[in-house]
Amino acid sequence: MTITIEEPIFKATNVGCRFGGVIALDSVDFEVGQHEIVGLIGPNGSGKTTLLNVLSGIYKPTGGEIEIDGKPSRFKSSRRLSRDEGLARTFQNIRLCPSLTVRDNVMIGMHNTFHWYDALWTAKGGRENAADAQVAEILEFVGIADKRDEIATDLAYGDQRRVEIARALATTPRLLLLDEPAAGMNPREARVLVDLIKRIHEERKISIVVIEHNMNVVMTTASRVMVLDAGLCIAHGDPKSVSADPQVLEAYLGKRFRDV
Ligand SMILES: Nc1ncnc2c1ncn2[C@@H]1O[C@H](COP(=O)(O)OP(=O)(O)O)[C@@H](O)[C@H]1O
Ligand SMILES: [Mg+2]
Repeated sequence: MTITIEEPIFKATNVGCRFGGVIALDSVDFEVGQHEIVGLIGPNGSGKTTLLNVLSGIYKPTGGEIEIDGKPSRFKSSRRLSRDEGLARTFQNIRLCPSLTVRDNVMIGMHNTFHWYDALWTAKGGRENAADAQVAEILEFVGIADKRDEIATDLAYGDQRRVEIARALATTPRLLLLDEPAAGMNPREARVLVDLIKRIHEERKISIVVIEHNMNVVMTTASRVMVLDAGLCIAHGDPKSVSADPQVLEAYLGKRFRDV
């Protein structure tokens, strides 16, 4: 189950995370390399979101180490991880600003890349105009350019998820963490999402970690899949071998297929 990634961007070693008596993560090792898509699967409550929260600085791990480009980063804030280390994410429960348009929600991501001196330039409209063009390009890229002036939270669920992805892309990340991006999508929207994930990876050269219950999304995008169960990694490898692993079938896939 040990897989060595050459020069990982992010490397978590023996990471643990407890909430009182609940062990959400129990000594998990997780790496993301340059330019790869990693799938993260497992039953509800197995620790997938907690791992993303630890990687993105929202939760402090209660044990273990996290390195970015080989340097310790365990206590970096989520803002610094986004601005300085190029980490962006979306949320399992969509977190868009209500009453703001699609364009303005995406612009919020862009502001994360602004510096104090941009305020001077912005006074002349320069930085803001450039940012507007970048937002337009990103909305086109994710396929919601026509929804630019609509209130983001009024959109259909699948489109709101794409606004979240657009906002994450606006921070110009090198690693994008997607927490159940296909949740609430119909099969056609999920196929469009698969295409979008592949294009983000191929055209924008961004590494991606994707948590999904939709096995088609995971197995057709990820080159490597890790399976969590009760805070432990129970399998790790290429999609084909992971989906045939007896322990994975017992803990997750088999149960899921029996439930359907
Ligand atoms: N902020 C929190 N406070 C208390 N318990 C939490 C918190 N976040 C997660 N947990 C618990 O940690 C476990 C893993 O949750 P989570 O990472 O959300 O699982 P998954 O994303 O795989 O469904 C669950 O038992 C959950 O209730
Ligand atoms: Mg979750």
